[in-house]
Amino acid sequence: MRTLWRQARVATLDDGPDAAPGGWIERGALVTDGERIAWVGDEAALPAGLQVDAEHALGGALLTPGLVDAHTHLVYGGHRAREFERRLQGASYEEIARAGGGILSTVAATRAADDAQLLALAEARARALQAEGVTTLEIKSGYGLSAEHEARCLRVARRLGERLPLTVRTTCLSAHALPPEFAGRPDDYLDAAIAWLPALQAEGLVDAVDAFCERIAFTPAQTRRVFEAAQRLGLPVKLHAEQLSDQGGAALAAEFGALSCDHLEHLSPAGVAAMAAAGTVAVLLPGAYYFLRETQQPPVAALRAAGVPIALATDHNPGSSPTLSPLLMLNMACTLFRLTPQEALAGMTCHGARALGLADRGRLRAGLRADLAVWSLEHPSELCYAFGQRPAVRVVQGGVERA
Ligand code: NIG
Ligand code: FE
Repeated sequence: MRTLWRQARVATLDDGPDAAPGGWIERGALVTDGERIAWVGDEAALPAGLQVDAEHALGGALLTPGLVDAHTHLVYGGHRAREFERRLQGASYEEIARAGGGILSTVAATRAADDAQLLALAEARARALQAEGVTTLEIKSGYGLSAEHEARCLRVARRLGERLPLTVRTTCLSAHALPPEFAGRPDDYLDAAIAWLPALQAEGLVDAVDAFCERIAFTPAQTRRVFEAAQRLGLPVKLHAEQLSDQGGAALAAEFGALSCDHLEHLSPAGVAAMAAAGTVAVLLPGAYYFLRETQQPPVAALRAAGVPIALATDHNPGSSPTLSPLLMLNMACTLFRLTPQEALAGMTCHGARALGLADRGRLRAGLRADLAVWSLEHPSELCYAFGQRPAVRVVQGGVERA
């Protein structure tokens, strides 16, 4: 099935040798052939005699790659609105975590929810992301923290990818927090988590392995153990790094060729250099920065100067970023972190895809996946500008328009 999309203003995000200057085509067209993009360029240059099965005239609408949300914790039970109230009254995220609340309160609610409930909750969240143009989504475990419950959460994530017109990438984050049954015994817990990883992988539930390297979570030495286990299994790694303090996590992750390091508010110059050398993507999460009322910004200028690709994601989770709006993240990345609108859009398309190890999407180029978003807007800057407005969007995933 060949489909022609014409009368489009196209932001290709492409910087390849044949790309349009600045990745921008004012009077553009795009042809999909099955799941792939067959052609993209100036409408006036469409191949003569092109035969298509369907044609859509977009009347000047903005065409971009489908959005890639490369960091979410979408599968969980309960919520943390009361914790939000406590933080507003002065309790810190770290204090609440140390007192057994925070992530562990979501672990209790997740374990108490049955599979159908977890799936229904996660599906509603995924549909909300899709309604803002998301076509590829990463989902982490990390609220199960036992062999049984981590598997349940990852299965729900996989089911979502089968039920919805979305690509779902799953990440095993068993090293997210220390479950109560292992209190005071973090290394014993990691022994267990490392032991259950091969079975999760064998069931096809793990595309990558993540950890939370922080004062309230796991040390760099413990994180190294998790990464070594992943490496033995041939699984790529990512890291929640330098969110609340500089643990040297980013340099450690870079040593393992990490796909990404995420958060990074407290990233050091040495961490930036290590990520640049390893080709590791920096995933910035303005929702968590905002919601935890952080004041130290990630070192955007240093990341830029070092040539580290900067991705953006919602980090949707009940504790630090309960948002389901990728477009709000684009806005916040500009207002809070001073990214340009162009950088912000790249962060949720091509660089988000790279943070997931997906080379086949995130740009509009012949041969790549036909994951597209058609916005009732004229210019990409509008995606970052009109926060909270939810512009109309048509989503095409694998060449097929999705309702
Ligand atoms: O990405 N930093 C650790 N993990 C999540 C928050 C998890 C939670 O508070 O439930 C994050 O911010
Ligand atoms: Fe996270």
